[in-house]
Amino acid sequence: MSNSEQDLIAWKTDAWKDPGMVAWYSDRMMENTGTNRLKNKVEVALCEHYVKGVDVLDVGIGTGRASLPLLSKGFRLAGTDSSQAMLDECRRLAGGQPVELVPGDVTALPFESGRFDSLISLNVMTHFPHVENVLKEWQRVVKPGGRLIFDIYSLDHLSFSRGQNVTVESLMKQDASAFNMHWSSDEVVASANRLGMRVVALVPYGSVFSGEYRHWHFPKPLQSTNWWHRQLSWIGSDDALLDMTLFLEQEWFACLNNFTTGRYMVVLENERDDAANQRWQANDLMLTRYLASSPVRLDDLASRLNLPVDVWRERFDAHLDRLRNRKVAYFLLTTFLGRTDAISWADLAPRNGPTLQRWVDAEQLDRQLQGFVQSWHQNPALARLCERDCTGLGAGLEYQLQRKVVSRFVQATGGRSE
Ligand SMILES: C[S@@+](CC[C@H](N)C(=O)[O-])C[C@H]1O[C@@H](n2cnc3c(N)ncnc32)[C@H](O)[C@@H]1O
Repeated sequence: MSNSEQDLIAWKTDAWKDPGMVAWYSDRMMENTGTNRLKNKVEVALCEHYVKGVDVLDVGIGTGRASLPLLSKGFRLAGTDSSQAMLDECRRLAGGQPVELVPGDVTALPFESGRFDSLISLNVMTHFPHVENVLKEWQRVVKPGGRLIFDIYSLDHLSFSRGQNVTVESLMKQDASAFNMHWSSDEVVASANRLGMRVVALVPYGSVFSGEYRHWHFPKPLQSTNWWHRQLSWIGSDDALLDMTLFLEQEWFACLNNFTTGRYMVVLENERDDAANQRWQANDLMLTRYLASSPVRLDDLASRLNLPVDVWRERFDAHLDRLRNRKVAYFLLTTFLGRTDAISWADLAPRNGPTLQRWVDAEQLDRQLQGFVQSWHQNPALARLCERDCTGLGAGLEYQLQRKVVSRFVQATGGRSE
C-alpha cells in the first residue's frame, strides 16, 4: 500500500474517533433532516431486503442506524468499529437490547472465520481505496452461501456524467476529505470472480442525493446547483415530496443500473459461480445499451419493476398531482441520462404526463430559438435576408426577435406553453 493510501485511510479512520464528530453524526441521523431522511430510508430498506440468516455483523456500525432495526425482526446482531466513541453511542441507542459490540478494524475483524450469515456495512467501504483487500477480510467471517451487503459510489456514473474515463487514482490525488471510493460494475464482477463470490445484485440508489445529472439550463451538473439543493431541502419537511422521491429511488432507479445513479448497494453471496457472474454482466451490458437508446419505456422494464406496470403508472401519476413533486420529478427524469428525450412522459404517467411532455417541448423549442437568435447573423444568407437599406440588423435585436417568435408560438398553440 502506498504512503498516500495509508494516510488517506488513517485520516478517514481517525476522523470518527472525535466525540464531537460522533455527536454531530448521531444527531444528523436522528434528526433525519433534508435528504438524510430519504437516504436513511432507502439504505435501511435495502439492508433489510437482502440480509439473510440469523447472525448479522455490521462493520463500521457507527450509531447502529442500519442494523439496530434488525433486532426487532429476529436477527442476532454483532457490530465492530474503530471508534470507541461510536460504539458507546451505539450502545446508548440500543437502549438495553442485546448487541455484541467489539472494537476492530475493517481489515482485521475481531471475529472467527465463517461465523456470520450476513455482513452489512453502510457508508464505510466508500472511504477505502483498497476495496478488494477489505472485501477479502469481510468474506472470511461470512459462512459459505452467506451474504455481504455494502454501498459504494458508482465509477460508471461518474465517468458517464463527466463524459470521460475517471480513475480511482485521479480521485485519490484530490484532498483526502473529498475522497470517496468509486467502483465500476465490471470491477465488482472481476473482484467477485477473483474472491470466489456470486454477484446477487448491484442496486442503484442516491439518484436524488448523489448523482451528477446535467441539464441544459445549468452549465454545472444539476446536483451542484443551489436551485436543486433548495428543492431537495424540502424533503426533510415535505412528506409528499419524500414519498415521491422514495418511489423514484425504489421503483425506478433501483430497476435500472449503475450508469444512472451516483451510488449503489452491492450484494454478494459467498459462493463461487463465475458463470452466474458472466450472465449478470451480460444482462447489465444489455441494459446499458438499452438505456443509451431512447425512449425508455415501462413495458420494456416490466420484468425488472417491483410493481405491475399499470399499478406503477397509477402510483407515479398520483405523486405528480402536486406541483412541487412534478417539478422535482421533471428535472430529475429529464436529466438522468443527459438528454430530455430519455423517457416518454405519457407512458410513465397518463394523467400528468402530457403536461410534463409540454414542458419538455417548450424547453426544446426555447433551446432551438436561443440557438437561432444567437447565431442568425453568422449565416450570410440569413444575414442578407435581414438587411434593410444595406444595413444588417444588429445582434442587439436578438431579444426582440426571440420575444416575437415566442409570442407567435403562444398565440398559435392557444397559450399552452407551460
Ligand atoms: C460514515 S460512518 C458510518 C456509520 C454507520 N455504518 C452508518 O451508516 O451510519 C463510518 C464509520 O466507519 C468507522 N470506521 C472508519 N474507519 C474504520 C476502520 N478502519 N475500521 C473500522 N471502522 C472504521 C467510523 O468510526 C464510523 O463509525
